Amino acid sequence: MRDLLSIKNLNTDEIYNLLNLALNIKKNPEDYSSKLRRKIIGLLFQKTSTRTRISFQSGIYQLGGTSLYLDWTTTNLHLGALPDEIKCISFYVDLIVARVYEHKILEVMRKAANIPVINGLSDKYHPCQILSDLMTIREIFGTFDGVSLSYVGDGNNICNSLILGCMKVELPICVATPSGYEPHKDVLNWVKKNNKEHLLTLKNDPKEVVKEADIVYTDTFVSMGQENETKKRLKVFKPYQINNKLLSYAKKMPYIMHCLPAHRGIEITDQVLDSERSIVFQQAENRLHLQKALLINLLK
Ligand code: CP
Ligand code: NVA
Repeated sequence: MRDLLSIKNLNTDEIYNLLNLALNIKKNPEDYSSKLRRKIIGLLFQKTSTRTRISFQSGIYQLGGTSLYLDWTTTNLHLGALPDEIKCISFYVDLIVARVYEHKILEVMRKAANIPVINGLSDKYHPCQILSDLMTIREIFGTFDGVSLSYVGDGNNICNSLILGCMKVELPICVATPSGYEPHKDVLNWVKKNNKEHLLTLKNDPKEVVKEADIVYTDTFVSMGQENETKKRLKVFKPYQINNKLLSYAKKMPYIMHCLPAHRGIEITDQVLDSERSIVFQQAENRLHLQKALLINLLK
């Protein structure tokens, strides 16, 4: 593993190794306190962030390294040719974490950098989030075998990476999106090409996918960069809100996942988000441990 732009880049063994290491780091954080000694990580962000930015910065510090937060607009990343700027940054830091609007910017970065590049969210994928979510599912169930996961909402970056993550660990997933808001075609083609179609069910009716679910996952209806579509999206996605009425179709009360930030009262109600079955803060905590495992792996 040299970079992490998408979960597609990881094989199943690499994913299990990351999950095992992350669980161990969570249990014994002090054992890893000098793993990133003298390492410098650059965080290049085009969009805002709470969890990704802070969990990376704190995690790097806890591993004995240091980080530089590089806002796109206060560097010359927006002035110079991106490959030139990235080549220069590669002289000064050991690894780049980047959050970008367009996924193809990450491809340009990867080509120009002679150091590892981690996707800290793009319009297409959010691999760090989903790897830590797999860690959370494994913590709760002890296994992926026999777990039934459903995703309700927008076929966005979270949904795309969740599907890929599930395919890699053979966890079946049912997805309900409005028509026209399905997961990215590259993801659906990847599923087909890799003969994983038996693990993915696509529907339009959210009631159908919550029925058998052990876990129901949702995300915002309006991702960063889609703000000008807000009015239309809020209308289209209204029937996809995770609320007690929708969950009454479930045979048993499922666990609730959300990558956060949540828009309370929009894609999910307070009652559901604050319920006993909500594991959203365990997900948020695990970002820290999983990303530490990722950094140790990429910099060893
Ligand atoms: N889940 C997540 O990536 O949160 P932030 O956008 O706050 O980093
Ligand atoms: N789909 C959301 C995820 C935020 C973590 C977005 O891209 O804004």
